[in-house]
Amino acid sequence: PLAQIGVTGLAVMGRNLARNFARHGYRVAVHNRTEARTRALVDEFGGEGDFTATASLEEFTAALERPRRLVIMVKAGQPTDDVIDELVPLLDEGDVVVDGGNAHFLDTRRREQALRERGLHFVGSGVSGGEQGALEGPSIMPGGSEESYRVLGPLLEDIAAQVDGRPCCTHVGPDGAGHFVKMVHNGIEYADMQLIAEAYDLLRHAGGLQPPEIAAVFREWNGGRLESYLIGITADVLAHTDAATGRPFVDVVLDRAEQKGTGRWTVQTALELGVPVSGIAEAVFARSLSGHAELRKASAGLPGPTETWLDSAASDRFAEDVEQALYASKIVAYAQGFQQIQAGSDEYGWRIDPGAMATIWRGGCIIRARFLDRIRAAYEGDRERPSLLTDEHFLQALAGAQSAWRRVVSTAAQLGVPTPGFATALAYYDSLRARVLPAALIQGQRDFFGAHTYRRIDRDGSFHTRWEEPGRPEEER
Ligand code: 6PG
Repeated sequence: PLAQIGVTGLAVMGRNLARNFARHGYRVAVHNRTEARTRALVDEFGGEGDFTATASLEEFTAALERPRRLVIMVKAGQPTDDVIDELVPLLDEGDVVVDGGNAHFLDTRRREQALRERGLHFVGSGVSGGEQGALEGPSIMPGGSEESYRVLGPLLEDIAAQVDGRPCCTHVGPDGAGHFVKMVHNGIEYADMQLIAEAYDLLRHAGGLQPPEIAAVFREWNGGRLESYLIGITADVLAHTDAATGRPFVDVVLDRAEQKGTGRWTVQTALELGVPVSGIAEAVFARSLSGHAELRKASAGLPGPTETWLDSAASDRFAEDVEQALYASKIVAYAQGFQQIQAGSDEYGWRIDPGAMATIWRGGCIIRARFLDRIRAAYEGDRERPSLLTDEHFLQALAGAQSAWRRVVSTAAQLGVPTPGFATALAYYDSLRARVLPAALIQGQRDFFGAHTYRRIDRDGSFHTRWEEPGRPEEER
């Protein structure tokens, strides 16, 4: 019998997805540009299920039952377009082509439209969870038509991670919705990682703890409300000793964070949409700053504070304070990310259900966490809520974190430990709370130098003041 699903592109993510389908009893056709990889997969893992190795895209498409379901797992960008161009002439109406890479959602919109015009379904799907997730159950975020999800959804739901008996996969929305949500997922991932890194930095360089001690702190936190994949692996990384030198692993790794671009896309898109995702933006900037070796070297002599360590009385409760600051900042970062999902959904008419996104992120993906169940519950209570911060649970957590959060940010400033993530989260929070923002002054400045006009609190309309003629009433424009 013909294969039920095909995977082309057998680098580690593609290979593991193919194995995951096979392990779930599906007949899987596999293809790779260099055939050796296809053979290696079947040689090594053929026993796991029913694979059909194919040597060309012609063979590959001929090996699939109809409507065909095939997953492309190649590099985002031109390589994806190249495969699509080669595949399309080999397909028939109603076939479903899935792109499981980290594509930009605007590319996905373009590809979806082009394939739709040829009677094909194109599904841009986020797949999160790294190599292990792909094999053992990722979180899957497919976009595309309803019809495509009818054909494909059951298979994806089968191989996805399961939490409380529910699959970490759902139909996100039309065309680029799935890749948009995956992009924001990655932006949140950047923000979360940055906050955790700042917590580590504070415990180490203000609190005076050593990496193995900090690992123990993270392990303890992982037993509480911060429980998450990222906190768990942080403890493991901090506890790791470099085999060659016997030093803590984090002390032998060059402190320059790299990035492949999805976090940057999140921020670029947020700027277009006018959504203040300051936590994600600071995380992207922090990574890029870390990479400016010359600039950092030239700046190493800049003056700093004279005190550089906490006194011991303060350090006793410091770890608890940092836990509070981390949780509060995390709430803010996620609230910003979810706001971006809602803004994208409104802009493109996707009707994304934010609670469903929190639900499918509870397992499989990099940001999986106990916390996401809270977010799910918050949106179940009110799907249209303007911000997660207004949910009762989060309100209480933020109330409880107030003094600790502020102590941590001010301690960091006093001791000269950079905490852009914590600080921007607090600034965002205080800006939202503020009854009056200094934006009125900015409007005055704009009107002064450019006659850009302003609105008043007591009357409708746009006004301009004749700044050169004091005493003259403002003009309505
Ligand atoms: C995931 C990850 C995955 C990838 C990141 C890494 O959800 O499984 O997000 O997509 O590991 O894109 O991104 P950087 O290389 O930009 O840190």
